[in-house]
Amino acid sequence: MHIRIAPSLLAADWLRLGEEIDSVQKAGADLLHCDVMDAHFVPNLTMGPPIVSAVAKMAAVPVDVHLMLDNPGDYIDVFTEAGASIIGFHVEVTRNPRELAARIHDRGRRASVTLNPGTPARAVEGCLDVVDQVLVMSVHPGFGGQGFIPEVLDTVRRIRRQAPSALDIEIDGGMNPQTARAAVDAGANILVAGTAIFGADDRRRAIEALRG
Ligand code: DX5
Ligand code: ZN
Repeated sequence: MHIRIAPSLLAADWLRLGEEIDSVQKAGADLLHCDVMDAHFVPNLTMGPPIVSAVAKMAAVPVDVHLMLDNPGDYIDVFTEAGASIIGFHVEVTRNPRELAARIHDRGRRASVTLNPGTPARAVEGCLDVVDQVLVMSVHPGFGGQGFIPEVLDTVRRIRRQAPSALDIEIDGGMNPQTARAAVDAGANILVAGTAIFGADDRRRAIEALRG
């Protein structure tokens, strides 16, 4: 299985965002992960549509937007227009994940249902046949640089067992070469990493170490 690496721009130097994107794309990034936070669903506030749009303009790889918002359904159009390729919404705040996935598909984007570390796998089981990706949070969403929560590996394994073979399972938070290995063994095929990539002087080596 080809393991894809999605650097999380949350850990980039935002004053030099263009150079940072260029650097990780040259180092082998497969996706660019954008963490959108609303200060309600999570206690932090980050980038919004104008920054995602700027990122998309220089992206040579798909832009993976992770919406940490109370009302993701209200922002599908805005982030579609901003240039997102993948739109991730949290199942904890989505009444009808199947309907939201269909709306994302209507706009020609890939749908990613996302769950927090404490949310059981069964919360997404009813929509595995209609989404393109499941994003399993391996830290409590809101901040970079936290420690990996190993209990989520069971969630990844359980989803991988039930998922259609083409489903992408992305894991997000606390990735380093060791946790990446455990996540891949459990069935993840896309790894999101902020600190491990942007904190490294040699980003190519950091990405290769995560890919294993
Ligand atoms: C947390 C974000 C993550 C975060 C990961 O809410 O979803 O994408 O940036 O950062 P690291 O890799 O530092 O744990
Ligand atoms: Zn994220």
